[in-house]
Amino acid sequence: MEMIRKESSLLKYNDESELNDSDRQLLLAAKEAVGTSYAPYSKFHVGCALLLENGVVIKGSNQENIAFPSGLCAERVAVFQAGANYPGVAVVAMAVTVKADDHVVAEPIMSCGACLQSLSEFEMKSGIRMRTILQGEKGAIYVAEKGTETFMPFQFETKALGK
Ligand code: THU
Repeated sequence: MEMIRKESSLLKYNDESELNDSDRQLLLAAKEAVGTSYAPYSKFHVGCALLLENGVVIKGSNQENIAFPSGLCAERVAVFQAGANYPGVAVVAMAVTVKADDHVVAEPIMSCGACLQSLSEFEMKSGIRMRTILQGEKGAIYVAEKGTETFMPFQFETKALGK
């Protein structure tokens, strides 16, 4: 028996002033996207902004539905827009932030498993890991330089299908 170990780490910044310009701008775009969230059920408004390798920024926000599973998280709204409108263009960075109606989210939120799986497919297609910038409504910012691998170190990869 041997142990297979993978390390995972995040950079923690105290606030926006510590970020580089590119990360700060992308986080600002994610904050703008929060305003388009449709979340009457959870009252939890998530904004996502993606930076494509051609410089285009795509914004997405969570879109809920009375039939709950029919709604979609901000990350997948954004990344599927990227795939549909800019096929073959890599996503180089992603910022995600949130604002809840009934409490202050002071910690960064992590993308759900379904979003990570969808995002990881884009990374595998392009071979580029998405720099990921996460912040709650305010406060500390986490940056994952290695993209989805940070949160899902052992992932289902296309090579498993022999592709
Ligand atoms: N949500 C996102 O949009 N992204 C995440 O990373 C976590 C959760 C949404 C889904 C749902 O509309 C609401 O937040 C509460 O779960």
